[in-house]
Amino acid sequence: MRTVRDIPELENIPVLVRTALNVPIENGKVTNDYRLRRALPTIKFLSERGAKVILISHIGEQGTETLEPVARALGKLISGVSFFGETIGERARKAVRELAPGKILVLENLRRDQREVMNDRAFAKEVAALADVFVEDSFDTCHRVHASIVSVPEFLPSYAGILLEEEVNELSEALKPKHPALAVIGGAKFSTKEAVLTTLLKTYDHVFVGGALANDFLKVAGQEVGKSLVSNTAGNSIKKILANPKLVLPIDSLVISSANMSAIDARMSARIATEGQVQSDEVILDDGPGTSALLADLAKKAKNILWNGPLGNYERNFIDATDAFARAVAESDAHSVVGGGDTIAAIENLGLLPRFSFVSTGGGAMLDFIAKGTLPGIEALDKNNNT
Ligand code: ADP
Ligand code: 3PG
Ligand code: MG
Repeated sequence: MRTVRDIPELENIPVLVRTALNVPIENGKVTNDYRLRRALPTIKFLSERGAKVILISHIGEQGTETLEPVARALGKLISGVSFFGETIGERARKAVRELAPGKILVLENLRRDQREVMNDRAFAKEVAALADVFVEDSFDTCHRVHASIVSVPEFLPSYAGILLEEEVNELSEALKPKHPALAVIGGAKFSTKEAVLTTLLKTYDHVFVGGALANDFLKVAGQEVGKSLVSNTAGNSIKKILANPKLVLPIDSLVISSANMSAIDARMSARIATEGQVQSDEVILDDGPGTSALLADLAKKAKNILWNGPLGNYERNFIDATDAFARAVAESDAHSVVGGGDTIAAIENLGLLPRFSFVSTGGGAMLDFIAKGTLPGIEALDKNNNT
């Protein structure tokens, strides 16, 4: 993979960087700048060598949000940042022309134009027309077949950024772990996690499925899950995974009565349900203390730990199992890799993120990379190795 270090000339050259500026915003303010900090090494590398650094990114799902507050937050981390409220076209090209060497220009949300997610070639060509060189550094979106990710590299000499390179190196190691290896997959939505579970069951010694994801497994295994969150999923693929002796499931959970679901302090009414003891009107919202003890033991023995997905509904304070496991990882000697937007948010709130060996900025991208060993955005760089 060619990286920014291989770009032959940078002084006064406009360089387009697909970066991850997709950060949480509340009331027009960035509430967590973790991803921005991880984007800095590539931006600094280019800026220090006199490139005109043009940052493109999406923010939010709908294409309605603006990157302006993100540009302001980035400006607090590095000097020389400005924002231009359009993405393509003559005015955007003029803003690039007027940019002084070493300065950083953030363009508006790529998803403001529907052609971004449609992977429209004409749109990609217009985006590419902004610069002479393309750098892919948004590992978290490399699993998406969008114009800025897979088509822009067709039109420009393209290179990997420093974050992308680090993600690929670290996660390639996680594909061939030291043993015993423990994988913990929580969160929700079985459909997005099926492929990675199948891969992990081949390469890891223990694959723990927790969080809402476990509800699907418990249900297919014939246990009552009451009114818990479940995916609408074909039972057959779950049955196959259930038969694998490497699979580990929660042995207890924290539940509340569905009548208390809307209560602000729902956590106060929770009880521990041991295996098979969930009532039909109850909701599972966290893995239980017995499960946490079992996981702590596996973490202690492990030489390698991979984790994605909170083990409970942490936004509503069902954080105990996630907290207990994060502490177990922090105390373990294992090489630990964690990723996922929600997972990172939950662990950062606990102050335990620095205790992990590697933090991936990808959620879906990390899982797809582990499942397949590559991603569309990475393949696009290799395919279009046009100098
Ligand atoms: P990530 O963003 O880290 O990849 P996911 O998006 O897959 O993680 O899953 C995170 C979501 O899963 C969170 O919104 C969390 O509340 C939810 N979750 C986890 N366990 C449960 C549970 N038992 N019941 C309801 N929601 C849960
Ligand atoms: C993320 O936040 O997980 C990535 O930036 C991908 O965002 P998306 O799910 O909106 O494509
Ligand atoms: Mg998520």
